[in-house]
Amino acid sequence: MPEFMSVIPVTIKEMQRDSTWDFATADTKEFTHCFHSYPAMMIPQVARKMLKIYGKQDSSLIDPFMGSGSVLVEGMLHEPITSAYGLDINPLAILIAKTKTTPIKPQLLENTFSKILSEFDKKKNTDLGFYNLTNIKYWFKEQAINDLSRLKSSIDEVDNGKIKNFFLVCFSETTRKVSNTRPGEFKLYRINEKKLANYLPNTLEVFTHVVKRNIKGMHSFYSAFNYLDKKTAINIYKEDSRTKTSIPSESCDILVTSPPYGDSRTTVAYGQYSRLSSQLLGYSYDEIRRVDQNGLGGKRSYKENNLDSPHLQSALDKISAADEIRALDVLAFYEDFNKCITEIDRIMKPNSHLCFVVGNRTVKGVKILTNAIIAELFESRENYSHLKTIIRKIPNKKMPKINSPTNVKGVTGQTMDEEYLLILKKLNC
Ligand SMILES: C[S@@+](CC[C@H](N)C(=O)[O-])C[C@H]1O[C@@H](n2cnc3c(N)ncnc32)[C@H](O)[C@@H]1O
Repeated sequence: MPEFMSVIPVTIKEMQRDSTWDFATADTKEFTHCFHSYPAMMIPQVARKMLKIYGKQDSSLIDPFMGSGSVLVEGMLHEPITSAYGLDINPLAILIAKTKTTPIKPQLLENTFSKILSEFDKKKNTDLGFYNLTNIKYWFKEQAINDLSRLKSSIDEVDNGKIKNFFLVCFSETTRKVSNTRPGEFKLYRINEKKLANYLPNTLEVFTHVVKRNIKGMHSFYSAFNYLDKKTAINIYKEDSRTKTSIPSESCDILVTSPPYGDSRTTVAYGQYSRLSSQLLGYSYDEIRRVDQNGLGGKRSYKENNLDSPHLQSALDKISAADEIRALDVLAFYEDFNKCITEIDRIMKPNSHLCFVVGNRTVKGVKILTNAIIAELFESRENYSHLKTIIRKIPNKKMPKINSPTNVKGVTGQTMDEEYLLILKKLNC
């Protein structure tokens, strides 16, 4: 076989554009999916369809890059799934996912909401130490800091942990909406001085809107889940997918996930996105910083590439001709990804299915075919087969509007407008 042939097969093998996976007009905020925004959320309908096709009776589901828990919510609403595992290193993601997968009688939430409102009224001056947080006055107006402090201390008085988490998630969502950050951005940028001068967000009004929306979402989730009359054991761990995790060996039948699509410096910085609300929620600053350091590709690699992926090597060669350091960053990301594959291999059962939703980013003008690279990294282990890749259009995925493939301020590139659904099978050998 000529050398170039070894590069071609994975990209073209069983690759099809399929508009039935686009879900262009679907409501992506049903059930508890409306609870909290999060970068690069998975479209629930995509997870649902994957579970329908590949989820067998009494299946155990895993999402090793769980984020806000969209996949786990869909697992709970899919009859054959009886247990689900989620992993993430971001404490905010853990809180959101746990809350989205905890059915609570909506009336209890209504009752607690009334109590929180009356506590808020009573607390005129509350000092939770928010003013000691770094740069707090840069990111929030004084009125917002005072109101958020009254709100948080009212929520802190809720005894029931699960109900409290529901309101902490509403609080976190409110925090972002009343901060001085530019709406629609995942990195922290402040709105401009001119707009800021007249900006006076009403924290209680925003919180009330979020709570009402989320109670409505809980209503439909609670009814849909109870209607199924089943149990789903949910196990969520704040653990790093590159390491040996708490999930037992060969315990999962199906994996559905959307992993990060590049390192946090040049793509989505989950830690930075979560920083403000995480600080107000009381998570330690160090822990929040570690989210981006421990994200895939968070630390540059200085090793030679020894990963068995012709597509990766070809991309690295082209990038390194333009910028050697950027090539090392790209390599670090896939080295980390390969560590996750080792852990995934440990926890997946033979004959299980693995469904990845990935985006192909551009670095230094070079399109990196992550779909092909992941398929090659799995297939290099010999006990995996790449079944197919489906290409879907991204009608409404919340991604940064413009990315910077050159990493030079002001120089921007195209946003990804399609993503790849990669289906693999672990063989029984
Ligand atoms: C694309 S997001 C997942 C979004 C999710 N599907 C949703 O709908 O919300 C990728 C997630 O991977 C997490 N992540 C990054 N590196 C990780 C690691 N080493 N171990 C576990 N999770 C990691 C990030 O914190 C982020 O939440």
